[in-house]
Order: sequence, then structure tokens, then C-alpha cells
Amino acid sequence: MNILILTAYLIASVLFIIGIKMLGRIKTARKGNMWSAVGMLIAILATVIQIEAISWIDIFICIIIGSAIGLIIAYKVHMTKVPEMVALFNGFGGLASLGVALADFWLNTQERSIITDNITNISVALSILIGGVTFTGSVVAFLKLNGSITGRAIVFKGQHLINLVLLIVAIGVTVFALLNVSNPAHMVILSILALILGILVVIPIGGADMPVVISLLNSYSGMAACATGFVLGNQVLIVAGALVGASGLILTQIMSKAMNRSLANILMGGFGQTTGSAEQTGASDIVVKEVGVEEAAQIFDTVSSLIIVPGYGMAVAQAQHVVRELGEICEKKGVNVRYAIHPVAGRMPGHMNVLLAEANVPYDKLYEMDAINDDFANTDLVFVVGANDVVNPAAKTNPGSPIYGMPVLNVEKAQTVIVCKRSMRAGYAGIENELFGADNCLMLFGDAKQVITKLVGELKEL
Ligand code: TAP
Repeated sequence: MNILILTAYLIASVLFIIGIKMLGRIKTARKGNMWSAVGMLIAILATVIQIEAISWIDIFICIIIGSAIGLIIAYKVHMTKVPEMVALFNGFGGLASLGVALADFWLNTQERSIITDNITNISVALSILIGGVTFTGSVVAFLKLNGSITGRAIVFKGQHLINLVLLIVAIGVTVFALLNVSNPAHMVILSILALILGILVVIPIGGADMPVVISLLNSYSGMAACATGFVLGNQVLIVAGALVGASGLILTQIMSKAMNRSLANILMGGFGQTTGSAEQTGASDIVVKEVGVEEAAQIFDTVSSLIIVPGYGMAVAQAQHVVRELGEICEKKGVNVRYAIHPVAGRMPGHMNVLLAEANVPYDKLYEMDAINDDFANTDLVFVVGANDVVNPAAKTNPGSPIYGMPVLNVEKAQTVIVCKRSMRAGYAGIENELFGADNCLMLFGDAKQVITKLVGELKEL
């Protein structure tokens, strides 16, 4: 029996690894998700078979309730709300790790079978500490994103010092708990400290930085699960937790790098809080050339190469379907149409890829920044749809700019650039964009969905 269960765990672990590998490419991502889900099913079944304390019926009722809740949430959630959903799920993962570790430790002390194994005791403490921080940190991230509490950074004097002191006290309590393993009260105190720490480390971070924080919390939830795997002696939980922990950390690193900011800078908070005049009022000193829908349609009708650059505004306007329609019409007219995807366009990793895939834009038309950046110079027309920071040349030319050094799309090198946005308001970084005043740039003001729908109508007439 034991060998069968271990084999099942091994198969599940291999499926997780294959699944994660496949998630790295757009074409194979759906299948990768499915393989990982099959791995999880095998892992759950292998675990359930071993359980004696609870009846199978009870377990399956719980699985059905949990799966139903997960399914309903996943079906109903809007694409722009996915970061919130992920935040909540991470939080529950952290809470589960904290609960399991605490219960395991408590039961052992109640039964007077003190755990003498140091690895298990340290794992209990780590599960509680990381799980607690993940839970409350994720709940704060969720509340910030859904607007229940202010999305702005909540900062006060001595905040970082208080966090540091709390962390040192938590480590002290952990050491004390490990030296007095017969008393579960220390682990309860550690849980409370971890829960407070989770709130305090996330409140100073601005709402727009939450995707990076959520990715980090996702990694924490994996580490907590990994530690819980050691507590329970469950191999598949150790492997799955380590995979989530490591991949979450890598993603966090990729996102920070693409925004040209260190993780420490994000965790200290404050970015995106600089509310320049352009952000607050939509006013700007930049002189721009405006273009109407009819005139824009004439330009689209004459070009032979077009690169569409989607950004956060496309997600807000839910314009991905009309964007795809626009691309198809241009292709029918013989235009070479491609989409340039910046790694942090939008507000979450892969945001633009997911939206365009939902609108059935073929994968082979999507180009990562590095693959297309040299082609802008040979392109007739670039159409920027609700993107701002990711096309801001200040990142290359202005050392004083907060985004200086962030890799951006070289859209200004194209023959003509048309930018579709509602006003002159700034993007996430809160800074002006001189691209809008460039000689070859035309502004097409309005909500992306409405404007592009009209543009498509005009193009059909031509
Ligand atoms: P932003 O720089 O935020 O610009 C989006 C633009 O969309 C805004 O200037 C806004 O202008 C326009 N917009 C909003 N609603 C619109 C609508 N209904 N129709 C048309 N336009 C609309 O977006 P970006 O260029 O995609 O850059 C993303 C930013 O987010 C980067 O600074 C990045 O560092 C940051 N960030 C990204 C991530 C990830 S993982 N993607 C994570 C954290 C932070 P108007 O208000 O004038 O319309």
C-alpha cells in the first residue's frame, strides 16, 4: 500500500512539473493547467486513501463543497478582478498551513507525545509564521484591490522599525517555543504575531503594486505549504509547496525587473503615489495633434504594416474583441498585423495575453517586446490602445524619470503612431508621456471600446 501511495505522489509531482513547464508557453498553457489539475486529483486521492480518522463521505462532501465554490468563483470572475481572486486563494492557502501546523502541534502536546524531532518543530513554527503573514497580507491586498480600504500606501512614522521589531520578537518566540515544546501557548502567540505582521507589511504598499505583492504572497503560501508537508510527512505537499514557492519568487523577480524596480523598493511602498498635475486633472503642458475617427480610418486604410500595442486601458474598456475585429479587417485589406506585448502591460502578469486569447487573437500574432522592438522602425502604423507607461520614451531618455531604465516598446520609431485613450491623464507611474506630443503621434481620444467600434464601422465603409 505504502509503495502505491508513494508512486502516486511521484506521478503527481512529475505532472506538476510538466504542467508548470507547459504553462511557460501560450500554446501549451491550457494543457499544462490540465496536467497539473490531474496531478492534484491523483495527490488528493492518494492522500484520502490513507486517512482513517474521518470517513470518506465526510471528505468527499468537503471536496465537493470546495470544488463548487472554486468553480463558481473561477467562472464568474472578470479578467480585471483576477488579482483579487488570486490574493484570496493565496490567503486561504496560508490559513490552511497555519491551521494544520497549529492543530498538529496542539494534538501532540495534548496527547503528551511531545515531538522530539527538531525538523518537525521548526516546520511547525515556519508554517505558522509564513502561513499567518500570507493570510492577513493577502486579505489586506484583496481589500485594497476591491476598494474596501484605500488603495493608497498607508504609512506612518517608524513603520519599518515596528515591522522589524515584530519580526525579531516572532523569531524570539519561535526559539522559545522550540525550547519548550510541551506548551502549545507559544505557538498561539506566534500565530497572533504572524497575523499582525502580515497586515503591517502590506498596508504601506500602494494598490497598483499589489500584483507584485500578490505574486510574492503566492510564493509565501507555497513555502508555508512546503513546511506543512514536513510537519505531516507528506512528500507531495513538500514538492508542490516548493514548486509554488520557487515559481512565485521567479515571477516576482521577473515583474520587478520589467518595472525596473527592486523588490525592496516595492515592499517599502510609495511608488505611483506621486500625483502629478496630469494624473489629477488630465491637464498637461504637452501640445498634441488630435485625430478624429474618420481621419484615423483613412490612415488605417493606407498602411501596409500595423503593430497594435495594448495596455491597461484596453482591459478597462474591455476592448479586446473590437481590437481583434480591427486587426482582422486590416488583414483582409492586406495589412501585416502584429501585436506587441510588454511584460508588464496591464496590471498582472500575462494580462494582455489572456485578454487577446479570450478574443481569439491567434497566438502567433502576439510578439514579446524583445522579439518586436527592432521592427517598429520599419512599421507604417502603430496603434496604442490604452497603454501609457510601457510606451513612454522617458524611460530611455530622461534619467530623472521614475521609470528611467524600464525597458519600453520603441513605438515612437514607427512612421505614424495613433494613441487611443480618454484624456491626457497619466498612467500607473503618474508621469507625463512626451510620445503624445511627438511629430509622428496622433491622439484619438475616447473610450477604447467605443472609439474602436466606430473605427471598425468606418473601415468597413472604405
Ligand atoms: P498605464 O501606464 O497604467 O496606462 C493606461 C492608460 O489607459 C491610462 O493612461 C489611461 O488614460 C488609459 N485608459 C484607461 N481607461 C481607458 C479606456 N476605457 N479607454 C481607453 N484608454 C483608457 O498602462 P500600461 O501602459 O499598460 O502600463 C502598465 C503599468 O502598470 C506599468 O507602469 C507597470 O509597471 C504597472 N504594473 C504592471 C503590473 C503587471 S504585472 N502588468 C504590475 C504592477 C504594476 P486615460 O485615463 O486618459 O484614458
